[in-house]
Amino acid sequence: MSDPSWQIRPECAEDAPLVELLNAVSFGPGRYAKSAYRLREGVDPVAGLSFVAVDGSDLLGSIRFWPVAIGMDKSLLLGPLAVQPGLRGRGIGIALMKHAIAAAREQGYPSIILVGDEPYYVRVGFARLAPGRIKFPGPVDPDRVLGLSLAQHNVMLTIKGEVRRARIDHFVSASGAAVAG
Ligand SMILES: CC(C)(COP(=O)(O)OP(=O)(O)OC[C@H]1O[C@@H](n2cnc3c(N)ncnc32)[C@H](O)[C@@H]1OP(=O)(O)O)[C@@H](O)C(=O)NCCC(=O)NCCS
Repeated sequence: MSDPSWQIRPECAEDAPLVELLNAVSFGPGRYAKSAYRLREGVDPVAGLSFVAVDGSDLLGSIRFWPVAIGMDKSLLLGPLAVQPGLRGRGIGIALMKHAIAAAREQGYPSIILVGDEPYYVRVGFARLAPGRIKFPGPVDPDRVLGLSLAQHNVMLTIKGEVRRARIDHFVSASGAAVAG
């Protein structure tokens, strides 16, 4: 990392409110309406793959992943990825992704998918998936469906099917509120 004043470390429980605030500022209320959010509903982010960029006690950026299944294969959904508005363009987003992708590879995940801007994510190895190969639970722009294989063979050439939640941690009411128990 070229700027020694900040570092990347695992997200801890105390970071969560600041991460939520950063995501709210970065994505707005519309984030809940996105197809990718359907895959996060009632599911906790993958433990061990949430990282924050910090400068002392200041939160600079955050990355989280959600567990998904695609057809018969397990995969990861990257995002949200967000950097504080005043600190963008300094390499924090790319550094967070490189760090997290290396951790996902070490932890044995075969692939990562996301819905995002190809010109940005191509910088860390993502490529557009063939249209129709994977199907999200709702409309997505096919040009923004990207994948990265972490396996020795290119999983992205064979992966196909519906993208689903890999597990459900909490029941969610029709209004979207978590239901106790
Ligand atoms: C997208 C985001 C995480 C990038 O973080 P960042 O720390 O500014 O990114 P980096 O500094 O690592 O990379 C900056 C480079 O990527 C480019 N870039 C940033 N966002 C881009 C995008 N959406 N499409 C294409 N290029 C992009 C910048 O132009 C810059 O290019 P340069 O190095 O040639 O100057 C940040 O802008 C952000 O939080 N945006 C709001 C939330 C968001 O949109 N998240 C991504 C969801 S798809």
